[in-house]
Amino acid sequence: SRAQMTDGLGRRISYLRISVTDRCDLRCRYCMAEKMQFLPKNQVLTLEEIALLADLFVARGINKIRLTGGEPLVRRDIGDLVRRIGRHLGSGLDELTLTTNGTQLADHADMLADAGVRRINVSLDSRDPARFAHVTRGGNIAAVFAGLKAAQSAGLAIKINMVALKGINDDEILPMLRWCDAKGLDLTLIETMPLGETGEDRTDHYLPLSQVADDIRARHALTPLPDRTGGPARYHAVAGMTARLGLITPLTNNFCADCNRIRMTCEGKIFMCLGHEDHVDFKTALREGGLAAVEPLIDRALRLKPARHDFRIGTGETAPATRRHMSVTGG
Ligand code: GTP
Ligand code: 5AD
Ligand code: SF4
Repeated sequence: SRAQMTDGLGRRISYLRISVTDRCDLRCRYCMAEKMQFLPKNQVLTLEEIALLADLFVARGINKIRLTGGEPLVRRDIGDLVRRIGRHLGSGLDELTLTTNGTQLADHADMLADAGVRRINVSLDSRDPARFAHVTRGGNIAAVFAGLKAAQSAGLAIKINMVALKGINDDEILPMLRWCDAKGLDLTLIETMPLGETGEDRTDHYLPLSQVADDIRARHALTPLPDRTGGPARYHAVAGMTARLGLITPLTNNFCADCNRIRMTCEGKIFMCLGHEDHVDFKTALREGGLAAVEPLIDRALRLKPARHDFRIGTGETAPATRRHMSVTGG
């Protein structure tokens, strides 16, 4: 029988998100400041350290691992880590996946499929080249399209992640859904979350998905689906389409009560919640005392997991929920 981890509130913790780097080749407005200070290399876990910690978590009951960043595919030798963690698939680990901006996907799609990755999430907030360049502060959308094509050829299932932004991409939501359907992709819409100073006013662009879903329903009936991926999205069948529509609604429909997730940053800090500062430092313990020193910290981390995040937008708040940028915690 498999080991299980439970937090202080009785929630089963089975999903580990690992941010493998804080760096990214894009600068999405809701994620980063224009000029980011990235971590010096010696503060970042080595791939070997990440792999050892992943082993430990799998032994303790994690059955789903998602690699994030920053952009996971900009980390040098990322393929070595994916293959190394992929060895747990079928014995302890049920799913290994990643969330990527897609710009480097063309170079890595075959590696991912060979390592046992079955589906990936690709962030794409606009299909219009100029708008994409605006949201990402300079990104080249052609690279993402090439990446999507390569990933499909490699046999990977793909879900597009689109952060819904009023005045930026709200008019593209229905077209994006239709495009995803035509291409054999799923789509997940995400409410923008206030993390880190990005130099952008999030109230300006906040779009409640409750409203977006109503707009979509006027054209296509939505039927809630029972299947969950272990992530926060609630999925819907869309009348007339094979594409599924996921909704991630931290602000309009809180999903923390059945949270199953913890996250590890590239510095080896374990954050129990995306929206809280509390964390446990595994790196120092690992470097000073090895895995034996890390083991008891897992239980401390589980006890620290808060009941819910405290994100608020549009209720007069001016400060982000935490000073940590999304690119550090990896979503
Ligand atoms: P699936 O496994 O495909 O369901 O993916 P996922 O939704 O777990 O992962 P993904 O990396 O695609 O994340 C999509 C969005 O969900 C990102 O904006 C994340 O920040 C957000 N997200 C993931 N987990 C949590 C969480 O525990 N709390 C909050 N507030 N947002 C989360
Ligand atoms: N709010 C919501 N989603 C965000 N992402 C990045 N920053 C934010 C934010 N502030 C999304 C990315 C990616 C996923 C991991 O998180 O677009 O799809
Ligand atoms: Fe990079 Fe993803 Fe952040 Fe955009 S959202 S800047 S792609 S880490």
